[in-house]
Amino acid sequence: SDLDAFITGLPKAELHLHIEGSLEPELMFALAKRNGVAIPYASVDEVRAAYDFSNLQDFLDIYYAGADVLRTRADFRDLATAYFDRVAADGVVHSEIFFDPQTHTDRGIPFADVIEGLCDGMADAEAKHGITSKLILCFLRHLSEEAAFATLDAAEPWLDRIAGVGLDSSEVGHPPAKFERVFAAARAKGLKLVAHAGEEGPPDYVREALDLLHIDRLDHGNRSLEDPALTARLARTGMTLTVCPLSNVKLCNVPSIDVHPIDRMLELGLRATVNSDDPAYFGGYIGENFRAAAAGRNLDKRQLATLARNSFLGSFLDDAAVADHL
Ligand code: ADE
Ligand code: ZN
Repeated sequence: SDLDAFITGLPKAELHLHIEGSLEPELMFALAKRNGVAIPYASVDEVRAAYDFSNLQDFLDIYYAGADVLRTRADFRDLATAYFDRVAADGVVHSEIFFDPQTHTDRGIPFADVIEGLCDGMADAEAKHGITSKLILCFLRHLSEEAAFATLDAAEPWLDRIAGVGLDSSEVGHPPAKFERVFAAARAKGLKLVAHAGEEGPPDYVREALDLLHIDRLDHGNRSLEDPALTARLARTGMTLTVCPLSNVKLCNVPSIDVHPIDRMLELGLRATVNSDDPAYFGGYIGENFRAAAAGRNLDKRQLATLARNSFLGSFLDDAAVADHL
C-alpha cells in the first residue's frame, strides 16, 4: 500500500535492537551444525512454535538458550550481517546495537571474539549498504554489580568501539540502583548511558534510571505513563524513549497492538521512537513494527515521520550527522 511504501522510504535509525535477539531459527540451526552444538528443537517450525511468551522472563529463558549456538568470531559476524542485510530493506540507515557480553563470556567465549565479530559485520554493512552503526554494551541486571564491573574492565581495550553502556535482562527485582556505581564508572570513561526501565518495572525504576544512573536515553519506558509527573518530566527534558511495539505485545505488556500507547506518547510530547527489540523472537523487524503500529493505531504520515525523525534526534550520532539525516 501507499503507507507501506511511505514507511519503507522513511530513512530511520534503530536505537533498540539486541543483536542476539536477531538470531533467526534458520541461522540458529546452521550455527548449531557448524559448531556441533545440540539444540532442543527438531526443526525451524518447532523453534518458532516455542516463541509463545507470557512475560519477559519466559522470553529471556529461551533467548539465552538460543545464544548458545554463537561460538566464534565468524558466528558474531554472520549474526550482525544477517541483521543488516534484513534492515537495509526496511530503510534503516543507522543502528545502535545492544550486545550482552556476559551471555557469551560466562560460556567461555572470549570478549574479543564477540566484539571483533560484531565489528566485522558492522564494517561490512557500512561498505555494502551504507548503514552506519554503534555498539552499546549491556550489563545483565540479574547478575551482580561485581560481574558488571568485571565486564566493564574486560571491555577496556575496545572502548573506542563502544558508544555506551545499557542495562537489560530481568527487570523486576533488579532496580537501576543496583548499578549506580558501575554507571558512574562508565560515565567517567566518557560512555553514553541507557537503561531498560518501565518495561515491566514500575515508574520508580524509571526515576532511578534518571536520578541515579543519569541515562541519556530510556529503553521502553512504557510504565512512565502511569505517573503524570514523571511523564511531564520526560517530555520537558526531551528524553528519547526507545519503544518496541511488537515486543510489548509478545511479552504481554500491552494486550494488543490496537491499544498500544505509541500515539499517546507523541501526544504527551514524549520523544518516542519505534524499534524491534528482538526481531527474530517478536514477529518482525523495524519495518514490521512501524507497519503494525500504523495499522493498529491508525497513524498518519505526519506521526510516522515524527517517529523516524525522533530516531535521529535520539541517536548518539554527532550533531552534523544528525543534521544530515533530517
Ligand atoms: N534482553 C533482550 N531483550 C530484552 C528486553 N526486551 N528486556 C530486557 N532484556 C532484554
Ligand atoms: Zn530490549
